[in-house]
Amino acid sequence: MRLWKNLLMALAMSVFAASVAEAADPKDPKDVKIGFVVKQPEEPWFQDEWKFADIAAKEKGFTLIKIGAEDGEKALSAIDNLGAQGAQGVIICTPDVKLGPGLVARAKANQLKLMTVDDQLVNSKGKALEDVPHMGISATKIGEAVGQAIVDQIKARGWNVKDVGAIRVSYDQLPTAKDRVEGAISVLKQNGFLAQNIFDAPQSKTDTEASLNAATVVLNKNPNIKKWVAFGLNDEAVLGAVRATEAVGLKGTDVVGVGIGGSDAAINEFKKPSPTGFYGSVIISPKRHGYETTLNMFNWVLANKPPEKLTLTSGKLATRDTYVAVRKDLGLQ
Ligand code: GLA
Repeated sequence: MRLWKNLLMALAMSVFAASVAEAADPKDPKDVKIGFVVKQPEEPWFQDEWKFADIAAKEKGFTLIKIGAEDGEKALSAIDNLGAQGAQGVIICTPDVKLGPGLVARAKANQLKLMTVDDQLVNSKGKALEDVPHMGISATKIGEAVGQAIVDQIKARGWNVKDVGAIRVSYDQLPTAKDRVEGAISVLKQNGFLAQNIFDAPQSKTDTEASLNAATVVLNKNPNIKKWVAFGLNDEAVLGAVRATEAVGLKGTDVVGVGIGGSDAAINEFKKPSPTGFYGSVIISPKRHGYETTLNMFNWVLANKPPEKLTLTSGKLATRDTYVAVRKDLGLQ
């Protein structure tokens, strides 16, 4: 009797294990389902990431499920939702990197392979979760490229660096944001920029409006400074600062803003008939972050080939004169 019971139990367990293994390990591309969750679905950068992820899905014949998750609760329920739909993997740019351990646990509970893009997860001590495969930009280097572009323009315009103010649009709770602005500042300082002329403009959210509000405070507090440079996490941050300089009556020739991204937000600015204070953008690759991450996840799900633990992508400065060529170079046409 007992033996039978044990045998039945073993049989039931192996059937269960097989179905779990099957769910987690599809053999055919058409059975693969991958989620792509982003924190700010309305931002052109994330629209582009999704666009390139869709191309990968079409090419390989798997299903891509795109979900916007603007806060932690939505991110966690997106993972559950994907689990319920039978997805096997998820790529996420989380709205809050401190959700790290929670997201990892939730993905595990739903038997989802997890990879992050753009913003790397951290634990409660702020340390990166290095076991979760991640693709992000080389934040410090790209920040340095921003700083160099600004310095070059200060020189080209014949400004005395001591008269120039810098708006540091900041979102320091996000490590990649902090690294980007610190990269820019290091180059400014190496080139004689005065530390006391660099003003922090903390944004409450990473969008243009929040940046405009933060930068307006800085400008209103320093009416005697007539030449400004601006940098931040992305194009939206810098565009907000540039709009703030326009609102206080500064001309495009008095402002050098250099963003990071190169999606529509920047391109539309370059297309304006005359130059604004938004001088340039270091174009990064939504193609790599969207197409490559999705393909990496596909290979992980189907062939059990895990992605690299860390991939850092590069960027290239573009201005209104060069953006067409730079985009072409990056395969972004
Ligand atoms: C962060 C920013 C985005 C974009 C990506 C690039 O997520 O919020 O605007 O710059 O990094 O990795």
